[in-house]
Amino acid sequence: MLIRNAIPADIDAIRAIELASFSDAWSAELLLYDIENPITIFAVAELQPGDFSLPEARVIAYADMSIAADEAEIRSLAVCPDFRKLGVAAELLTQLIACAETNGASAIYLEVRTSNEAAIALYEKNGFEPIATRKAYYAKPKEDAIVYRLSIEPKPPAQAPVSDI
Ligand SMILES: CC(C)(COP(=O)(O)OP(=O)(O)OC[C@H]1O[C@@H](n2cnc3c(N)ncnc32)[C@H](O)[C@@H]1OP(=O)(O)O)[C@@H](O)C(=O)NCCC(=O)NCCS
Repeated sequence: MLIRNAIPADIDAIRAIELASFSDAWSAELLLYDIENPITIFAVAELQPGDFSLPEARVIAYADMSIAADEAEIRSLAVCPDFRKLGVAAELLTQLIACAETNGASAIYLEVRTSNEAAIALYEKNGFEPIATRKAYYAKPKEDAIVYRLSIEPKPPAQAPVSDI
């Protein structure tokens, strides 16, 4: 599996994962905006030919993180349902955290639906701590969000600029 920066040509695969993962899915336009946004790290996990006997490469997960000043925010992260529980999200998250550190961030924030047990377990296992609740933050269905924070060590000036993973 390769983790690389997303490119606009990945949009159909990313949108399909988005639709399969979220009841309030983002539009292709919004996803494309983030792929092309210079302050956003938009990464995809791509299976390579031969992985799982696939004849060709296939994007199976994505993660979207913005960085401004010393704060990073994971805006979205999702794995294709057929490839969950295989460690894909954990690997993406590890790379996002490293990327935030090398881009000078000292904390990473994110929001999660209160009912999203899989994501809550993923983030808590990786050291994120709940710091607040946002009432009725989500739609379809209306639901509170838990805000999570991870403190990280900013590293010396970036070798890779923001938007590269
Ligand atoms: C949450 C999500 C990204 C996890 O992806 P994944 O690739 O299946 O996760 P991983 O296999 O890397 O699992 C890493 C850890 O997350 C937790 N986890 C993942 N799926 C879980 C589940 N269904 N139930 C409970 N814990 C789960 C576990 O702690 C797991 O560690 P373990 O395998 O040692 O038990 C995936 O379920 C998904 O895409 N969900 C829909 C989109 C979403 O909710 N995104 C998060 C929005 S903030």
